[in-house]
Amino acid sequence: MAQTRDQWSSRLGFVLAAAGSAIGLGNLWKFPYITWSNQGGAFVLVYLICIVAVGLPIMMAEILVGRRTQKSAVGAMREAVGPAWSWVGSLGVFTGFVILSYYAVIAGWTLRYFAACLRWSTSGFDPESSSAAAFGSFAATGGLQAILAGSFILLTMAVVYRGVRSGIERTARILMPALFAILALLLVSALSMKGSGEALSFIFKPDFGRLEPRATLEALGHAFFTLSLGMGAMITYGSYLGRKESVVRSATLVVVLDTLIAVAATVIMFSVIFSVPGMKEQIGKSTVGMLFISMPQLFYTAVPLGKLLAPLFYLLVAFAALTSTISLLEVVVSYFIDQKGMTRARSTLVCGLTILAMSVLCGLSFGGWGAVSNFSWIYRGTAAAKVGLFAHMDHMASNWLLPVGGFFITIGVGWFMSREETFKELVDENTPRWFHYGIWRFFMRYMAPIAVAAIIAAVLSGKDFS
Ligand code: TRP
Repeated sequence: MAQTRDQWSSRLGFVLAAAGSAIGLGNLWKFPYITWSNQGGAFVLVYLICIVAVGLPIMMAEILVGRRTQKSAVGAMREAVGPAWSWVGSLGVFTGFVILSYYAVIAGWTLRYFAACLRWSTSGFDPESSSAAAFGSFAATGGLQAILAGSFILLTMAVVYRGVRSGIERTARILMPALFAILALLLVSALSMKGSGEALSFIFKPDFGRLEPRATLEALGHAFFTLSLGMGAMITYGSYLGRKESVVRSATLVVVLDTLIAVAATVIMFSVIFSVPGMKEQIGKSTVGMLFISMPQLFYTAVPLGKLLAPLFYLLVAFAALTSTISLLEVVVSYFIDQKGMTRARSTLVCGLTILAMSVLCGLSFGGWGAVSNFSWIYRGTAAAKVGLFAHMDHMASNWLLPVGGFFITIGVGWFMSREETFKELVDENTPRWFHYGIWRFFMRYMAPIAVAAIIAAVLSGKDFS
């Protein structure tokens, strides 16, 4: 197929699209929750260290592999590292398929909460309908779950169908600035609340006595997920990056934006939570609880201008989720375009509809349909048992697919690409002054693989990071 390959129109286009991939439910849903359950301060510090020492070098590695080869995950690994490495790319394509299938379910919930907030804001808040029980019955309503997850995939397909520049980049150029603006508004409002001081010290004052060793690995695992690393998403996006742009600079911007948004979201949520007496004790034991049960109640009972901000908040989460699902689908779709010679239109339809079917099944796995809700293979019979399709997919991706993919990408780039090859991609006249190639290479060859191997070792010994 002698089509000319699509490219981002500028570095800003790439940075917004890649930041869109990185900033997602991981930042707004998972990070605040794991910060909460790991007691704040020290965990946040460890997380920041993981981001700088492991996330940033791997981000540069993935982007450089993509830009060098101008191919998506499979072809890129084969060409940059060696023919024996294409399976790492294939694993990434499979991972994209798995993550997107369950991610779309939560993404679908943000649509429902956006709609619910519009209703609550106009015709009055009803605490009953945002209780934990109401959430449970919402999650178990099969038809609605199927429609929500399915619509989210269709939305994602509509963007990917239109291609890199007029689909993905254009969407990111609209949604990302909107997301930053909404977040800034929420931040101002949250900081004006009386709990904000306590929230800030919870988040930024490290107390290492409260840090459990396993939290370090949890921080590391999350660094992968939140930066969209380990499955070739950044290889794919990097493959549309022009030769003139600096890989180091672009990678750094993406990582900084992702981190800022995660921290800002946490400050917002905790300021609200700490402002309401008794709320700290009430925050449920589940991730879902904070975002979909506590936050609506808090918006309507405690937040200044909450009526206005609540729908905006869920719109923000939906935007963040959409730019992430786009990147997940693009990894799968671009594989069939580059390796199987399909047209973009056909690849989007075939891959999209297959994933849609899987995500509907995931959506039905909270009680909507017994066959996918009740089975349990992983940790069966223990207190930690995974129940239902959604939980199994999440477990597989976070514990196995991303760490294994990440490990081999790191080894491939660090040990099987020559110094000259990687140097040429990273160092040019646009490279920022602070960047030191030798340090990068050291982190790639030693720190990152050891860190990722530690995650895999922990998983093998029975830890769960999903
Ligand atoms: N980074 C996104 C988030 O934090 C999720 C995501 C999008 C992702 N693309 C990915 C995770 C690729 C791993 C790999 O929500």
